[in-house]
Amino acid sequence: MSCRRLVLTLAVVMVLGANASTFAAGNAARGKQLSYTCLGCHGIENYKNAYPNYSVPRLGGQNATYIVAALQEYRTGERSHPTMRVQAGSMSDQDMQDIAAYFSSLAVIKPGGNGTGTAPPKVTALCRACHGKDGVGTADQFPTLAGQHEDYLEQALNEYKRGERKNALMSAFAPQLTAEDVIEISEYYSQQTPGLATLPRRLTILSD
Ligand code: HEC
Ligand code: HEC
Repeated sequence: MSCRRLVLTLAVVMVLGANASTFAAGNAARGKQLSYTCLGCHGIENYKNAYPNYSVPRLGGQNATYIVAALQEYRTGERSHPTMRVQAGSMSDQDMQDIAAYFSSLAVIKPGGNGTGTAPPKVTALCRACHGKDGVGTADQFPTLAGQHEDYLEQALNEYKRGERKNALMSAFAPQLTAEDVIEISEYYSQQTPGLATLPRRLTILSD
């Protein structure tokens, strides 16, 4: 192979390689466009789910792999929330990847901090390996809990306890928590900073 061809071949491989990794990681610009409807709930600070009443989760800075997994669980029915099942049901895998890339890019939260305040003993014993003492997921497939709404964390833990969410890992851990543990741990993780952010509010024609 001539030197020139080799250089060209390498350049093509590099471009393809870059595209392949962008593709796998999701296209945040496309995700931003796709997420317009999501902001009606996830872009309003303190917006509440009705019956039962709890805060819509914060998604800014959440781990991308986890966001995709969560959306897939709504689509398959492993998570039972009716509105999110409808939302995820019409999304392709690529849509999920792109939206996840956008949401996760909105805040950069690094794992490995010591956390603020005194961690409840079960956080250290049971949760820390995956969710960190500081509430930051220790790998991309583990959700960050730092700064998440306290009442949403309680709701999620109770859904795992009741079997309304069927994730194998959390179905093993959540039943080890008493009602008091759920309240104490949710309070602790929700207060950790830096933490998750509400998505930026969408622009409306009528400003308010
Ligand atoms: C009508 C309000 C509403 C809309 C619109 C909505 N969501 Fe949600 N979303 C919720 C609620 C409430 C939950 C918590 C559900 C539960 O308890 O499992 C949730 C949960 C999620 C979760 C899981 C969060 C976590 O921490 O596990 C993701 C991811 C998500 N939504 C993404 C989206 C995306 C993407 C869209 C737009 C395509 C969207 N949502 C539109 C209300 C909404
Ligand atoms: C071995 C790893 C692991 C351990 C240990 C673990 N979790 Fe999880 N946790 C996960 C995974 C994976 C998920 C996502 C499950 C899903 O897709 O529904 C999750 C989800 C959660 C959620 C829902 C987050 C959201 O945004 O909806 C909460 C709350 C939670 N875990 C709290 C805890 C607590 C409290 C403990 C300790 C008692 C714990 N976890 C221990 C891996 C773990």
